[in-house]
Amino acid sequence: MKNIILEYLQYNRENYISGCYISKELGISRAAVWKHIRELRRQGYRISARSNCGYRLDEEPDRLIISLLEERGIRYYRAVDSTNLTARRLAEEGCPSYTTVIAEEQLQGRGRLGRDWFSPPNSGLWFSIILRPEMIKPAAAAPVTLVTATSLASSLNKNQDLAVKIKWPNDLLIEGKKFGGILSEIKGEPDRIEYLIIGAGLNVNQEPEDFPAELKAQATSISAERGRFFDRTSLFLSLWEELCRAYELFLKEGFAPFRDRLLFYNSFMGREVNVTWTGGALEGLAVDLDQDGSLLVRDKKGKVHRIFYGEIN
Ligand code: BTN
Repeated sequence: MKNIILEYLQYNRENYISGCYISKELGISRAAVWKHIRELRRQGYRISARSNCGYRLDEEPDRLIISLLEERGIRYYRAVDSTNLTARRLAEEGCPSYTTVIAEEQLQGRGRLGRDWFSPPNSGLWFSIILRPEMIKPAAAAPVTLVTATSLASSLNKNQDLAVKIKWPNDLLIEGKKFGGILSEIKGEPDRIEYLIIGAGLNVNQEPEDFPAELKAQATSISAERGRFFDRTSLFLSLWEELCRAYELFLKEGFAPFRDRLLFYNSFMGREVNVTWTGGALEGLAVDLDQDGSLLVRDKKGKVHRIFYGEIN
């Protein structure tokens, strides 16, 4: 019913259409019409209501184009708890490798280290890709986060002319502010991967004032940096195609083909860093990336440490 009301409003765009007319046409009460209008407003439709005139559709929310996603087998959801959790449920049901989940909104978007990930509706790209690598061992899968960051950064630099940098291992930055992050999860046994889930979140069309107070200082969106609106569907599809190519290469040849590009896009090499990880911390100079993507940090005594997981502050 709500969708039929939306069609009426879309057909009469620019003009008011009376609530009485809609209620008679659909055989529902005017209170029911009002209830559906309120629901459409909640979904981001801007609808004016004027007494004696009725309702007018002023603006539609920015929506991903479902048909373009579905024709590539990508699973679209209006709202999910988290695309990583949705992907995990699909993986448990046996879905094939490269199954991809994208949502307009995440109600419990998850970041690294148990943090929340702010995922408001109709403005960002929140998606997860499931991989079922047969040939690589769990230990060799760790760089998949770096492969994802490198592929996203290079696609955005190349195709959108955005000066994107990577903060090892999973933050995407523009002008030192974070607009994207990656959360990879794995299920398997010591010598076998059952599946990998790679979740990525990119702030695309948010305005600076859309971010909650605690994020405002360090978060940004692509649109806020470029001063223009981005078509999220075509942006997503170009990123997704590049990611799928990158994963194929990674599964065949490992991290090596990505190392130079990651070094090129990194924002920390040659700088004093403070790295923290569960149960430890280290200060020193970031000197290099190892062949497997681990970060090499030289401490004050000159000893070089290999850091597999962590966060640079
Ligand atoms: C981080 O930087 O802390 C990682 C953020 C990862 C967010 C993405 S959004 C899509 C996917 N689903 C989630 O719940 N999280 C990841």
